[in-house]
Amino acid sequence: MEKTVYIDSLEELDRFTKKLSKCLKGDEVILLKGNLAAGKTTFTRYLVKNIDKSLEDEVNSPTFTVMNQYDTEKFPVFHIDLYRVKDFDFYDFLGEGVIIIEWATEELFEELEDIPVLFIEIETVENKRIFKIKSKNADYLLECLEK
Ligand SMILES: Nc1ncnc2c1ncn2[C@@H]1O[C@H](COP(=O)(O)OP(=O)(O)OP(=O)(O)O)[C@@H](O)[C@H]1O
Ligand SMILES: [Mg+2]
Repeated sequence: MEKTVYIDSLEELDRFTKKLSKCLKGDEVILLKGNLAAGKTTFTRYLVKNIDKSLEDEVNSPTFTVMNQYDTEKFPVFHIDLYRVKDFDFYDFLGEGVIIIEWATEELFEELEDIPVLFIEIETVENKRIFKIKSKNADYLLECLEK
């Protein structure tokens, strides 16, 4: 399934990630593709905040750490950045929490099997963002977002 979402402001991003946070079961992989400063870390920050308000200020770019872990009250979130390390082995974490990967590729989306995956391609047009979303084993997520 596919879905396009228009995000015109941080308020809109807040609304969208709040909705998504309620749809997640806790074992999904969210792949983020987008240019420098497209908003990959900001998306992650808002999503984690909406899963657990107390983690509002905890989310930072894992560019140097490669992976940050946020222990939300619901499930762990593993936040990975493939900008510098292209072949980081996150397979041990599959199913153990929500995995969010910045600088993901379409090939990675194709490779992942037997796990719910969202592929979000972020395009920027002036100050606005267009999220082009594809799902694999995760149509329930896109259906949930429609509600
Ligand atoms: N939906 C949005 N609406 C308005 N501003 C946004 C939105 N998303 C991100 N921004 C702004 O864009 C800038 C870059 O965002 P961010 O660091 O999240 O991008 P990134 O894709 O993670 O960058 P990098 O490629 O360095 O990892 C920040 O100043 C952020 O506040
Ligand atoms: Mg980033």
